[in-house]
This record gives sequence, C-alpha cells and structure tokens, in this order.
Amino acid sequence: MRTLQDMQSYVGLTPEDEVTLRSLWPLLEPHADAVVDHFYERVQAFESTRALLSDDAQVQRLKGSLRVWLEDTVRSDRDAAYVQRRRRIGQVHADVGLQPQFLHTAMAVVLADLHQLIMTRCSFEEAGRICDVATRAFLIDLAIMNAAYVLSRDRLRAQELQRLLVAHLALAVLVVDGQGTVIACTPATSSWLDGRDPTGDAWVHALPAQGEASTLLAESQRAVSEGEVVVIPRVRSGERTFRITFVPLQHDDASVLIQIEELTEILSLEARLREAESLARIGAMSAAVANELGNPLAAIRATMQVIADGLTEDPELVGVMGKVQAEVDRMSRLVESLKAYAWREPPARRPIDLLEAVRGTLLEWSGAVEPSVRGRGAARGDVSHVAVILQGLLRNSLQAGAVTILIELWDGRMLVSDDGPGVDEGQRHAIFDAFVTTKPKGVGLGLTLARASAEDMGGSLDLATSSLGGAAFELRLPVV
Ligand code: HEM
Repeated sequence: MRTLQDMQSYVGLTPEDEVTLRSLWPLLEPHADAVVDHFYERVQAFESTRALLSDDAQVQRLKGSLRVWLEDTVRSDRDAAYVQRRRRIGQVHADVGLQPQFLHTAMAVVLADLHQLIMTRCSFEEAGRICDVATRAFLIDLAIMNAAYVLSRDRLRAQELQRLLVAHLALAVLVVDGQGTVIACTPATSSWLDGRDPTGDAWVHALPAQGEASTLLAESQRAVSEGEVVVIPRVRSGERTFRITFVPLQHDDASVLIQIEELTEILSLEARLREAESLARIGAMSAAVANELGNPLAAIRATMQVIADGLTEDPELVGVMGKVQAEVDRMSRLVESLKAYAWREPPARRPIDLLEAVRGTLLEWSGAVEPSVRGRGAARGDVSHVAVILQGLLRNSLQAGAVTILIELWDGRMLVSDDGPGVDEGQRHAIFDAFVTTKPKGVGLGLTLARASAEDMGGSLDLATSSLGGAAFELRLPVV
C-alpha cells in the first residue's frame, strides 16, 4: 500500500481526481465493449501477441476480463485488494510468456481510445483535466502490473535455471522424508536403478550398495539426530565405488538430503596415473638393469653349460642344475623384455585398417587354435604395435588352455575373447601390473608392455567381458 500511496503522490493523483475518474464511468460504459474489441483487434493484428491466444472462446473470456478490469480501474477504491488484483494480472502475463513491451503498447491503445471518447463527449475545459487524470490513474495501474510481471518473470527464469541445473546434474541427490521415503531425486539417481525413478520408495532401496544398507541407515540417523553433515568417503558396490553424504534438512516435509557421487572413474584414473608413473620408472630402470644383467647372465649361462656337461653321471645334480638353468633362462627372458621395452620405437599414429593388421598377424600365427575374426574397423595407430599386442593376447589365451578365440573389430576397437578359464577375480585389478603373472615361466611384463604400447598410440588396453565365458581384452585406439 505504501508503494501505491507513493506512486499516487508522485503523479499528484488526489482524492478529488479519484472522484473525477469515477464520474467517467457513465460516459465510458456504453462504449466499453468497443474499447475492449479494439484492444483485442490490435492484439490479434500482431504475430507475437496473437500467438498467445489459442481460440475464440479464450478471446471472448479475455474480453470479459478486460471489461471488468476497465470498470475496476475507473470505479474501484485504490486499496490493498486493488493492488493485489493488479499484481495478479502482471503475474498471469509473465506466466503466459507475454513480452513486456506489449503490456505498454496495449495500455497506450486503451488510453488513446479513452482520450478520444473524452475529447468528443466532454467540453474542451473538462476534457483536458479528465484525460490527464485518466492517464495518471491508468499508468499507475500499468506500473503495478509491470512490477509484478518483472518479479514473476525473474522468479520463473530462476526456477527454470534451477530445473535445468537439477536435470543435468551428474550427481545423484535424494531428498528423504521423516519416514525414510524418497520424496524427490535428481534424474542421475536413476542411472544405477535401470532407469527406475525411486520416488516413493524407501531410500535404502535406491542405494548403489545394498549390502551396506544397515551401516548407511545408521549414518543417516546420526546425521539427523546430531544435525550434522556425515560423509562416508568410500562405499563399494561390486566394481564401483561411491562417496555418500548425508545432509540433515530443516524442512516440514524433508528430513535428510543424500548426495551420492560415483568415484569409480576418478579412482581408476588415479590408478592409471600411478601405473603410468611406474611404467616411466620401469622404462628408465629397464635400460640400466638390462645393461647390468645382460653380460653377467650370458657368462653364467655359458658356465652353467660347461658345468652341466660334466655332471651327466649324477641324476640328482643334473635335476638341480636343470632348475637353476630354467631360472637363468627366465632371467634372460626378463632382460630381453626389459631391453625391448626400454629401447622400443615410439609407435606411429597413422590411419590403419584393423582387419588388415589382424590378418597380417594371423598369417604368422602358428598356435594350435585358429582364431575367428568378425567385423572390420579403421583406427589411428601402428600396425606393428597392434600386431605385437594381438600376438601377446593370442599367446596368453592359448597358454591358458582356450580352444576358441574370437577377434571382433569395430572402428577404433578390437576385442579378443576366449573360452579359457578367464581371469581370476582376485587378479583382475593387478593383471596389468609389472611382474604379476600366473604362468610358471612368465616374467609378468607382457600385459604391462602391451598396455604401455596401446597408451603410446593414444589408446587403451583393458579387461572386458568375454562372450565366450573366458577372458576378454579390449584394445581401444583413436578413430581416424
Ligand atoms: C493493458 C494491458 C492488459 C491488460 C489490462 C490485460 C488484462 C488481463 C486480465 C484482467 C487477465 C485475466 C487475469 C486473470 O486470470 O486473473 C488477462 C489474462 C491474459 N491476457 Fe491480458 N491484459 C493486457 C494485455 C495483454 C496483451 C497485450 C496480451 C497479448 C496476447 C494479453 C494476453 C493475455 C492472456 C493470454 C491471458 C491469460 C489467458 C487465459 O486466462 O486464458 N494480455 N489479461
């Protein structure tokens, strides 16, 4: 009300002026329908205002509302209820998406019609004063509508921004009521619930790690009872890791907000980084170690041979020497691998045909199993490196006892699957680590070097799920 009084006093609208305004109605009433018709004629003449009107029934309804408004503005008391009615009109126009300038142009049309009427129906002296009073009163009306319009539009925009933010938030957030039921959640929450919206469910059923439900329930109760944020830094669910935060809420309907962040990818990137660092260290050490060990090993091998030749009489000693010889051979292979790694050529990154690379490798492949090949694909990389990686993977499958091997190709992707025993669950996270091997004669560098080579080409080598029930490795390379 204070604002209305301020506006009236600003434009100098006195109680006498209000009396003058009311006296206008008997003159205006017979022409009110014509004023309203003219108003909607202008609205319908313009594309951007016409677009807001759906059908004739709506126009008839709006004409009725406008006529009521016209009479109300001329005749009613300027009180709090009047201000409220004008605010509502402003809000309705923000809701329907009317561009603000059309509130002003529409008001100009109404005022022009009123002036025309007054000028033709009143004496010259009277007309000037009545026009002036009407203009000031109707512009105050417009000011109230416009202020409410702007406020409402800004609120609508802020709400829309918030809606967009929530819709695209990669974070899963659940809002839970006092009974433990989910009453709202971000769309990201559905990602581990097969697209199911958990609203209405008990929140423990909407969690990634069902096995930990009782601990999480206790933590959420602790957050609510102590009124403090509780963070559980690592919650594991199969191969995935999450961080869960409970935020107590002071709200009539909601008691706690649960924020769930998936850390799986970050943790795997961190592991990759550590691995890359250790590979770089291996590279630097490899050259030194290979140099240091290469010559003494050759000498040991030669000496062992001489000793072994003189021991043919004693079967026990021959057995022991055989074992030592095998170990020396293993060390020699390690030195060879280290040398190959330390002095490896950086791979090219040129367009290659993956099918041709596979065919070339298989031409030289003499393993007992003939792999089948499906699909084709192009990638950016180095044929000789792809061939070495594939040979290594085929050799691994064969040594693991696979009898079927399948190589599948797509652009930038090669999947090698077998029907062998697969990779032991306990080995999966360490299989690419240096010096980890399950083979009695292995040195544990094959997969480490294969992954390093894939990464040198800008790609990756990872474990995958085998359609044949055994092991599967996926080589990914940049696409052309
Ligand atoms: C001085 C300018 C205007 C006044 C005084 C005015 C008055 C009104 C009134 C009294 C209502 C009913 C509000 C309610 O439901 O409570 C309304 C609604 C509406 N007005 Fe206006 N209006 C103006 C300008 C315009 C213009 C230029 C358009 C352009 C298309 C327009 C389109 C609408 C629409 C679409 C609705 C709501 C639709 C509905 O209820 O079906 N108005 N207006």
